[in-house]
Amino acid sequence: MAFPATRLRRLRINPLVRERLEETQLSPSRLIAPLFVRHGRNERRPIASMPGQYQLSIDRLIHEASQLYSKGVPSVLLFGLPSRKDTRGSQAYASNGIVQKAVRALKKVLPKLLVITDLCFCEYTDHGHCGILRRGELDNDATLQLIAKTAVTQARAGADIIAPSGMIDGMVKTIRSALDRAGFKNTLIMSYAAKFVSAFYGPFRDAAECAPRFGDRRSYQMNPANAEEAFREVALDIEEGADIVMVKPALAYLDIIRRVKEKFHVPIAAYNVSGEYAMVKAAAQNGWVDEAKITREILLAIRRAGADMIITYHAKDYTNSR
Ligand code: PBG
Repeated sequence: MAFPATRLRRLRINPLVRERLEETQLSPSRLIAPLFVRHGRNERRPIASMPGQYQLSIDRLIHEASQLYSKGVPSVLLFGLPSRKDTRGSQAYASNGIVQKAVRALKKVLPKLLVITDLCFCEYTDHGHCGILRRGELDNDATLQLIAKTAVTQARAGADIIAPSGMIDGMVKTIRSALDRAGFKNTLIMSYAAKFVSAFYGPFRDAAECAPRFGDRRSYQMNPANAEEAFREVALDIEEGADIVMVKPALAYLDIIRRVKEKFHVPIAAYNVSGEYAMVKAAAQNGWVDEAKITREILLAIRRAGADMIITYHAKDYTNSR
């Protein structure tokens, strides 16, 4: 039945009908706010390339997480800025490392907050790569041992979900068995399963002070040209025990999110990364786009593509604009 019997505008003409038929909803409870934590007291250092984002000391972090929680964003993803860096990234797995301390403090004040810890070494190594090096190359299997130690200290501090982001082969399997051995059978793993080499991470590297000193991340992160390989990565991580798989970045990879959703029956997280955020902020500051509207449209698109959870720096602004 075509026109004139069928008029799709009938479905849109009246907000009463239009609103009842909305196919995709985005509740703030689906959002995860990434937060950067550093040592000190009463510190709130603005990140120049990410307006509205800060490096926070633990006291300020608690304040920020409480605000998010009360606005309906129940989850945070923590990144740490250690007091010192070394070749092995030892502050990543120190039981008194900045992230471990932050988790303990958050869980004490906000026991119902879902606390996710990023597990990577680039913020903790003096060379800025995501693991330890041997002859200038990332040593995969040696890095796995440190990944296991880090996962256990994060879980012991009280993290609900461990999120390994280094694209190291075998990282999920290693973490699962280390957690199980240490008695953390119910600590989840959210794997950065399909993480692409991306210029969209630019602002994050200022925020987390983790740009590599030499070379790049092409030997561990994925080539943006590859989709089939992304599905292999996801399949392997699920086999190794990932509870949630992540696609990152989000906006330029909506096709990957959608296809992962259709092929695999596991929860999917998408990371709306720093560069995606910075572009919106810059254009909005110039008056070129309407920030609240464009943010809603972007987050809705990521959700519509198939993401169950969205990691986004827009989390707080989104709740304020609803
Ligand atoms: C560290 C890490 C990065 C991001 C999250 N974890 C940077 C990178 O891989 O270079 C990027 C997040 C963002 O851009 O918002 N491995």
